Amino acid sequence: MAQNIYDNPDFFAGYSQLPRQVHGLDAAPEWPAIRALLPDVTGKRIADLGCGFGWASRWFREQGAASILGIDLSRNMIERARADTTDAAIEYRIADLDMLELPKASFDLVYSALTFHYVRDFVRLSRMIHTALTAGGNLVFTIEHPIFMAATHPHWIQDEDGRRTWPVNGYSLEGERRTDWFAKGVLKHHRTLATTLNRLISAGFTLRQIKEFAPTPEQIEAMPELAEEMERPMMLLVSAHKN
Ligand SMILES: C[S@@+](CC[C@H](N)C(=O)[O-])C[C@H]1O[C@@H](n2cnc3c(N)ncnc32)[C@H](O)[C@@H]1O
Repeated sequence: MAQNIYDNPDFFAGYSQLPRQVHGLDAAPEWPAIRALLPDVTGKRIADLGCGFGWASRWFREQGAASILGIDLSRNMIERARADTTDAAIEYRIADLDMLELPKASFDLVYSALTFHYVRDFVRLSRMIHTALTAGGNLVFTIEHPIFMAATHPHWIQDEDGRRTWPVNGYSLEGERRTDWFAKGVLKHHRTLATTLNRLISAGFTLRQIKEFAPTPEQIEAMPELAEEMERPMMLLVSAHKN
């Protein structure tokens, strides 16, 4: 059974205050890079896996998508997502991605933001998504970059100048990672970059584009705290295709 930390009251209270949860997609610096990976969604049937508050689900509909199925493990997240729309073409459902089965060839796009690193069995999930996509369909997702994830033990150390450094600890040791973020012992699953990409290839996907997100100079000028993201990639963005 997955951990479901987003239903922990302390975690949820802290997470809900993040700028991207208060202000939505435009407060996520990686959003322009994700948008550049997305296909035209007009008329598309989309699954948003780990939909959270549903920001992306609502955006897809604004862009003309036919329907969205948003899936999330957390009742807190799904209740908030449901409260934020009256659109009958968006359905939100509580489910665990480690067990979810979607109907065969029923989606044109599967999207997921910052969720797959909570999933234990990425082999099963990749195969299931490939089966659920129509031929010509796309999978676009982001995860915490495995270098960033591997660095979470210890979260960071300071060098002599007090600057943060980002040691990669146990990068090749795949498996559980625990971190303290709004709550103690948040469980994630570390996989190397090669493992993540090779599992997609084994599931039948053609990789289209991979991005190791870094902010643009303009973004850093507008938000100087983003300069830290130049030290190591924090997020991995993947676009994959089903032939
Ligand atoms: C970092 S949040 C991202 C939410 C949303 N995609 C966004 O970008 O705002 C991760 C989400 O994944 C969900 N999640 C974590 N593990 C999950 C699982 N095993 N099955 C389904 N959802 C899960 C959490 O409840 C949470 O809503």
